[in-house]
Amino acid sequence: MTSRQVVLPVFEKPGVNAGERVVPFGVAVVEADPERRQGLIGQLGEDLGTASFPSLAALQLELTAGVPVVVVLGPSCAFAGVLEQVEWLTRTWPDLGLVLVVDELSTTVLQQGLRAGVKDVLARPDRAQLTWAVERVADNIQVAATPALTLAPLLSDTPGKVTTVFSTKGGSGTSVVAVNLAVTLAGRSAGTVALVDADLQFGDVAVMLKTSLAHSIADAAAAGERLDPPLLQSLMFRHGPSGLMVLPAPVEPALAEKISTDDVRRIVDVLRTFCEHVVIDTASRLDDVVLTLLDQSDDVLLVSCMEVPGIKNLKLGVQTLRQLDMPMNKFKLVLVRSNTRVQMDLRDIERTLSLKAGVVVPHDTAVPVSLNKCVPVVLDAPRSSVARSFEALADGFAPLADGRKHRLRLKFPERR
Ligand SMILES: Nc1ncnc2c1ncn2[C@@H]1O[C@H](COP(=O)(O)OP(=O)(O)O)[C@@H](O)[C@H]1O
Ligand SMILES: [Mg+2]
Repeated sequence: MTSRQVVLPVFEKPGVNAGERVVPFGVAVVEADPERRQGLIGQLGEDLGTASFPSLAALQLELTAGVPVVVVLGPSCAFAGVLEQVEWLTRTWPDLGLVLVVDELSTTVLQQGLRAGVKDVLARPDRAQLTWAVERVADNIQVAATPALTLAPLLSDTPGKVTTVFSTKGGSGTSVVAVNLAVTLAGRSAGTVALVDADLQFGDVAVMLKTSLAHSIADAAAAGERLDPPLLQSLMFRHGPSGLMVLPAPVEPALAEKISTDDVRRIVDVLRTFCEHVVIDTASRLDDVVLTLLDQSDDVLLVSCMEVPGIKNLKLGVQTLRQLDMPMNKFKLVLVRSNTRVQMDLRDIERTLSLKAGVVVPHDTAVPVSLNKCVPVVLDAPRSSVARSFEALADGFAPLADGRKHRLRLKFPERR
């Protein structure tokens, strides 16, 4: 993400009463269709120095707290899904004033628009009508005296990719893989990356990332139908060094019972709307919650150590998943090499499971060392062989541009 700079051209909004301060504000057009976008800009005229964006997500990147913007939403925004995004954008950015332009005015569109925080809905306005509406909305924008305390989650143009990390045997290294993959992706991706701890009883992601918990996945589940991106983001914590957004497991094992498969499905659906990648750590159990997550995921990483008991359990798990008609092409093996000299052969494992090994993670003492410091090994020992294996794993999800080295980036620069 680029930092939130004022690139919108701004012009002066004089105070109504003499002596009031002059407030600069911007005008922006949001419309997916390039021709119609151009048409709206033409209608608004050069004077307003209007900026244009193909989507709300593109506009959001350029917003700056304290700089009011009148947004003219084109006809491609007059649909329930887009207006839902408009609604939570207006809730998290109080300095916006919105005008919706439609081809045909219906009661439904009017209601949906007003509910989303749109101030005026116009059907095929002429130049004078549109300019007048923009000026009227500009007059009524409340410029927040202080910027909003919570950052708006970034909208995403395309739904985020969900990757669940699962093992049929506890202690295989599932959480280590999930945490390090998520941290690596957060360092590489321009958008938001989330890590969800869905090991609902004994999840240890929060400890691995050294945090004291305020909220957890149990709060997100309790929100029910009210859960939307701003609410969900307010329940997550941000891992400072990587910018990763984390939804931890409940603090008490008993709370796990209160989280239903519907809750889990809703949480993942909402995360997809504002995250580029969502990584989910799970318990080593094929229960309904895990099956729901496997079903909802774009990719599943099956973690196992390279020893007979682990592979035997994994084989049983894979058989069950095949019986459940789970599409196996989204499953990839992540094998953690044990530190014994005698190991199973990689080819034998692939043949036994009829699955390809994506990455082999070496056994490395850098892992327990990093766990005891509560720092993911990709940050604690970035040059270690195990950290490099996580980089290779991340390549499959977010490849690095040629010649670029992995580097950490802060995702949410302070608002000015
Ligand atoms: N690549 C590795 N090298 C060395 N030790 C590892 C590695 N991966 C995991 N471990 C060890 O295995 C233990 C279990 O890992 P964890 O990720 O918590 O497993 P799971 O989530 O599958 O129960 C950790 O405490 C860690 O010490
Ligand atoms: Mg675990």
